[in-house]
Amino acid sequence: MRDLARMTRAELAEFIRDGGGADYAELMREADRLRHLSYDNEVYTRGLIEFTNFCKNDCLYCGIRRSNPYAERYRLTQRQILECCSLGWELGYRTFVLQGGEDPYFTDERIERIVYSIRSTHPDCAVTLSIGERSRESYQRFYNAGAQRYLLRHETANDEHYHKLHPAAMSPENRKRCLWDLRDIGYQVGAGFMVGSPFQTPEYLADDLLFLQELQPHMVGIGPFIPQKDTPFGTFPSGTVEQTLLLLAMLRMLLPTALLPATTAVGTLDPLGREKALKAGANVVMPNLSPTDVRKKYLLYDNKICTGDEAAECRFCIQGRVERAGFRLTVSRGDHKEWRMQHDAIGS
Ligand code: 5AD
Ligand code: FES
Repeated sequence: MRDLARMTRAELAEFIRDGGGADYAELMREADRLRHLSYDNEVYTRGLIEFTNFCKNDCLYCGIRRSNPYAERYRLTQRQILECCSLGWELGYRTFVLQGGEDPYFTDERIERIVYSIRSTHPDCAVTLSIGERSRESYQRFYNAGAQRYLLRHETANDEHYHKLHPAAMSPENRKRCLWDLRDIGYQVGAGFMVGSPFQTPEYLADDLLFLQELQPHMVGIGPFIPQKDTPFGTFPSGTVEQTLLLLAMLRMLLPTALLPATTAVGTLDPLGREKALKAGANVVMPNLSPTDVRKKYLLYDNKICTGDEAAECRFCIQGRVERAGFRLTVSRGDHKEWRMQHDAIGS
């Protein structure tokens, strides 16, 4: 099997265009072998709390974009967020992911207070933030308050493509600046992109892989693009599960110790999508922990799964899925191994 890490942009693009070609079966075996080498058959789990769907941005693909008048907006209070965490703790979660739109109501002070209160109530848990682009100073404040992980998908590493997916007010330079700042501060950083987003080409996907090799993030979230009917991309076709699996396996080869989630989007396109993603090299699942009454409102794309289920249902549903796919659901903070070693050394 050819060494993906040595491939040029053109070679990676050709490999992707070919769907892995003659190397496909070996790629999948290698991805599986490498994931086992780093993580045995453990799958980490995180409780996802979607705490606001207000967003000042207008990304063309996203159902909670500012100019979608049909999105029913909501925000959880600090108290509701803490209640989700307590329920999550009972269900065995030791990592909480706070995800939201870019909502100016959640000032640095409010985020700091929320992070701090979760860390004080549940000192054995990790807090991951996923709240978009902010200044380096803000990221530093959240880190000081106790957030140790940050998810910010780069969406596409190709500048031309970036401008086709986002309004002029957003720039690929700032997106990448955020990711480098987060890394520099000491976060475990997650980047990522959609597979099959409008105008994407195999060359652009090659750019994503090259960028990720440079950034060396601890986590990479990828999932198929799925249209949301009230967005400008509402009539574009979805990405495919097949291409998502190919890219997951390629990512496992390029970043052998990375945390790679089997995303909700891949489970939305195929009822067994998440199981397939685990077999292709993913090792994280992020069941929904948001209160049931707001779930249907966090609609980034159409037909999203798990919007009618209680937190406990998702927790046990996912455990069954992980086990039936031949893995073991691990209840621990699930830190990236190298990050943990560095931080144990400095006592944080
Ligand atoms: N289809 C699939 N994924 C989407 N996201 C946003 N909109 C869509 C969509 N229509 C992804 C983006 C974002 C993450 C939270 O969800 O990559 O970073
Ligand atoms: Fe939510 Fe299956 S993970 S119902």
